Amino acid sequence: MGQGGQRVGVVGLGCMGMSYAYDPHGRDDTASIAAIHRALDLGADLIDTADVYGPHTDEELVGRALAGLRDRGFLATKVGFVQGATRLRKDGRPEHIRAAVDASLRRLGTDTINLYQLHRVDPEVPLEETWGAMAETVRAGKVRGLGLSDVTVEQVRTAQSVHPVTAVQAEISLWTRDALTELVPYTARESITVLAYSPLGRGFLTGRFASSADLPADDYRLVNPRFQPKNLAANRPLAEAVRKVADSRGVAPPQVALVWVLAQGEHVVAIPGTKSAHYVEENTAACELALTAQETALLDALPPPSGARQ
Ligand SMILES: NC(=O)c1ccc[n+]([C@@H]2O[C@H](COP(=O)([O-])OP(=O)(O)OC[C@H]3O[C@@H](n4cnc5c(N)ncnc54)[C@H](OP(=O)(O)O)[C@@H]3O)[C@@H](O)[C@H]2O)c1
Repeated sequence: MGQGGQRVGVVGLGCMGMSYAYDPHGRDDTASIAAIHRALDLGADLIDTADVYGPHTDEELVGRALAGLRDRGFLATKVGFVQGATRLRKDGRPEHIRAAVDASLRRLGTDTINLYQLHRVDPEVPLEETWGAMAETVRAGKVRGLGLSDVTVEQVRTAQSVHPVTAVQAEISLWTRDALTELVPYTARESITVLAYSPLGRGFLTGRFASSADLPADDYRLVNPRFQPKNLAANRPLAEAVRKVADSRGVAPPQVALVWVLAQGEHVVAIPGTKSAHYVEENTAACELALTAQETALLDALPPPSGARQ
């Protein structure tokens, strides 16, 4: 992790969908906690959450799952998004960061966060000020390392001028490759770890969501452009190509999608999200797979998806 930090498994666990965004009313805390425990058993020890997931419910759930097991998990959370009455707003004010870190520690039931990430840069606050406040959390011993999310190389450089950047989150998958042009090579040179989020294309690349009828009524993906019926139909060949490779290898499609992400760099860690211990097992086993040159070429050549990233 970062510049000589703690070692983590190359497949981690994203906890967002356990209480937020993906079928939040169908949440099953017992299953989610079992998924987190299975991840720890298998060495998928990077556990990612955020204060805004819920809001707050996800950190509370992760805190409950890690009670008595805290030392076995590399705990990553995020700050900088706040749930307003109808929509999320960004808040990078230093006073917000100072209050939010204490609230996160309380909900997570811990006295240290391994990786504290700025969820989004607040355009109203100079990044140097936000990052300066985040650096204070490290000096205060509340946090071990700092990360950014959805940023440009320029923003990483600005943050680096104030305090080291341990990790950067970016959406990376077979259908979201924007970060591969500049961010992934830059972070490799700077020994910054990349946390590839939504590496399964928010579930699409698993083949489970071929039609919007496959999504629960309160699921965020129903408003995601790529999951709109016309785009879903246009994107189907992407999931079919993944399935073809998986079938020929006798593995599951998510494993192919994940190993392609991991192949983007030795500093890239994937954080697939799931609330199922069985899927945790499947996803973690992806790190034992290697694609052939022919499979890589086929997947690399897939066309871009239909529908904007959101
Ligand atoms: N920094 C950011 O702004 C940001 C944004 C989005 C996400 N994230 C982080 O990244 C994590 C992962 O992203 P994500 O959850 O959006 O998308 P994802 O990992 O691409 O996909 C999650 C979906 O895939 C399904 N799934 C997972 N493993 C599976 C398997 N082996 N077989 C079949 N289905 C499987 C999940 O199902 P079930 O839910 O039914 O298990 C869920 O519907 C999040 O949990 C969060 O921690 C960060």
